[in-house]
Amino acid sequence: MTINPVYIVGAGPGDPELMTVKAMRVLKECDVVVYDRLVSDKILDLLGEKTEKIFAGKAARDHHMLQEEINALLVKLAKDGRKAVRLKGGDPFIFGRGSEEALHLADNNVAFEIVPGITASAGCGAYGGIPLTHRGMATGVRFVTGHCRDGVHLDLNWKSLADPDTTLVIYMGLINIAKIRDELIKAGLPADTPAGAIERGTTEDQRTILTTLKELPDCIEAADLKAPSLLIIGRVVGLAPDLGWYIPPMDCDVEAGQ
Ligand SMILES: C[S@@+](CC[C@H](N)C(=O)[O-])C[C@H]1O[C@@H](n2cnc3c(N)ncnc32)[C@H](O)[C@@H]1O
Repeated sequence: MTINPVYIVGAGPGDPELMTVKAMRVLKECDVVVYDRLVSDKILDLLGEKTEKIFAGKAARDHHMLQEEINALLVKLAKDGRKAVRLKGGDPFIFGRGSEEALHLADNNVAFEIVPGITASAGCGAYGGIPLTHRGMATGVRFVTGHCRDGVHLDLNWKSLADPDTTLVIYMGLINIAKIRDELIKAGLPADTPAGAIERGTTEDQRTILTTLKELPDCIEAADLKAPSLLIIGRVVGLAPDLGWYIPPMDCDVEAGQ
């Protein structure tokens, strides 16, 4: 029996038109898709009726299938001769565990291909009018996670992250937003550094708030932002009022959230 390679595919941040041509091709050719919670319904609607869809349901605190179960499932599907796609939100190699799954496939002698996707920071930056770098404002950008396993203290290198010359993008940062704000200010990042949060970026439900680092937690609370949301901190956020072209940002009524 032929063992087909497993395609580990990035679906992008939500807008189906942001998927790559290669992602579209492998989705059309496969017969089973194992997908995560972050893959939008509009993308799932593109799958053929005969394609089996298996929900692996990953969210920060709600793991529908354990990672080990997903790993084992991918190996089994391939060894059963299925044409399997592992479909993930954003890019599989950015906070996506695509590499863990690929390592497991390799350990079990199953070939794989990685199809990159537009990661949330690129999508949210573009649709939020926030360039992640801009001459004279940000010489670089850092992607960090604001989430850690339950019971584990969020321990980032705050001194190095508190750099006013680079943009800081925080994935999964809502739960620890007050700590993130406090640590960055303590490490020297000015409290009035522009900061924003984007919920469901690139979808028709996108919501954006624009504020300062100091006010970011209160503003997020006032707007009642939920996951998936991305935090962007840095001077470049100040360009959003001029560069925003998609859904306008919300007013941040901090008083209302208190
Ligand atoms: C487990 S990580 C997966 C990241 C994904 N692999 C990527 O490259 O974008 C999930 C986090 O990504 C961010 N995220 C993903 N899609 C998003 C979207 N459409 N809008 C805002 N944030 C998003 C949120 O911070 C969310 O909590």
